[in-house]
Amino acid sequence: MTEARKTKAAIRPANGRLAMTTPADLARIEAWEYAPAPEARDYLAIQPRYELFIGGRWRKPKSGRHFTTINPATEETIAEIAEADAADVDRAVGAARAAYDKYWRRCPPAHRAKYLFRIARAIAERSRELAVLESVDGGKPIKEARDFDVPLAAQHFFYYAGWADKLEWAFPNTRPRPLGVAAQIIPWNFPLLMAAWKIAPALACGNTVVLKPAETTPLTALRLAEIIEQADLPPGVVNIITGSGATGAALAGHRGVDKVAFTGSTEVGKEIARACAGTSKRLTLELGGKAANIVFDDAPLEQAVEGIVNGIFFNQGHVCCAGSRLLVQESVHDVVAELLHRRMQTLRVGDPLDKNTDVGAINSAAQLRKIEELAQSGDADGCTRFQTECDLPARGFWYRPTFFTGVSMSHRIAQEEIFGPVLSVLTFRTPDEAVEKANNTPYGLSAGVWTDKGSKNFKIASQLRAGVVWSNTFNKFDPSSPFGGYRESGFGREGGIHGLLPYIEARP
Ligand code: NAI
Ligand code: MG
Repeated sequence: MTEARKTKAAIRPANGRLAMTTPADLARIEAWEYAPAPEARDYLAIQPRYELFIGGRWRKPKSGRHFTTINPATEETIAEIAEADAADVDRAVGAARAAYDKYWRRCPPAHRAKYLFRIARAIAERSRELAVLESVDGGKPIKEARDFDVPLAAQHFFYYAGWADKLEWAFPNTRPRPLGVAAQIIPWNFPLLMAAWKIAPALACGNTVVLKPAETTPLTALRLAEIIEQADLPPGVVNIITGSGATGAALAGHRGVDKVAFTGSTEVGKEIARACAGTSKRLTLELGGKAANIVFDDAPLEQAVEGIVNGIFFNQGHVCCAGSRLLVQESVHDVVAELLHRRMQTLRVGDPLDKNTDVGAINSAAQLRKIEELAQSGDADGCTRFQTECDLPARGFWYRPTFFTGVSMSHRIAQEEIFGPVLSVLTFRTPDEAVEKANNTPYGLSAGVWTDKGSKNFKIASQLRAGVVWSNTFNKFDPSSPFGGYRESGFGREGGIHGLLPYIEARP
């Protein structure tokens, strides 16, 4: 066994006023360097090329074009992926419509449930393969893919399988009916999980689906297509087509679609809303966020620091509900900043396939540029930057866990979604000021409140305009609880009974 080494966690000297961890302190908070523990990937069969999954068959794109997906941790090309054009979209929507009319709308609800249970079980059975693939294609740490993305994806199928034959109980005194063909467009931060969030409730309610994964992370959705084949779903009930924004636009704009569900950037969400305006299409949008994580002086601070770390460094901050604004009560600002500083030094950044890695690769070069640019605006605005200075791999896209102090509400890093491992720290004096600052954003997806007092927690939570408020915790998910936003974070809910509503007509 390789002997564990002890290394000193290096810290870039603070360029500001706060006296952070000193070199003497640093000697005491040496981080144990574990021996490498990479998850094996040699058993993982990845085809050199993937086609479109339409009508239960793998079809070459009419466009005749393919693009590549890479591993962002190494920049190696993994596979070629079909690029669907408008004609391919048309074919996929046609297949979904035919499957809806021919099988799925007539399929007894208990049978729909049976198919969903099968998919859930297959995800659970193939969880290791799916977790490795997710990590390789998107750069996320294997421990997150393994412990969060894949199990939660299976749970969503299990959960909605349970509802398929109980819709009348979910919506009493109504006759819930499916809508028809659902067009679903998903992003790259939780590729398999977002596919599950979209597909499971749609199928449970009796709709058929055309799903388009993001261009940088199509592989787990394509593997899900294989699972859907394995589950023997009638052909065309789920179609998975790949491509870029143009493919997504053609899908959302297709006249044969009854419902559009989108998760991604606010700009694209607005474009889709414009494209759907004036049509009979139903629409749900899950867009960006700029969540406030509010820490009061009576909070258990060490626990709060764990929550802050989880809130912003989880999945490299590629999380729409990331706690990217820390609002900390002025009296405990320095102690929280110092605890956070120390905790950050122990985060392991590097090979996503290593089981000890906490922070993986940034998903793409474009996303890395966006993070760098926004972080530089924090420097330019005079905020104080704290960053870990661990070694980063020579190739791939990486960003060190970072936080800024001295941030004010007008700074860009307090306003714009950064979608990376960068935290902005702001202060407040009174609960009212905390609420006002937390709500002072165009977004409203999530928030966190940390306090020892239950009544204060409820009071603050009830004043926050956010779809989800976590209390003394952060980034916790369950298939039975609804998730979704206010204002520019979108509308509609996913998860729970609420997550069925966007996929049915529930009239008496
Ligand atoms: P994006 O919104 O462009 O991509 C999301 C999905 O939409 C992808 O499947 C993409 O192919 C598709 N798409 C792109 N343009 C489209 C269009 N005109 N019509 C229909 N579909 C379209 O997000 P992008 O460019 O990858 O990331 C940009 C920023 O968006 C990030 O930096 C982050 O701030 C935010 N974002 C938010 C996410 C969330 O979960 N709310 C997820 C991904 C990104
Ligand atoms: Mg990729």
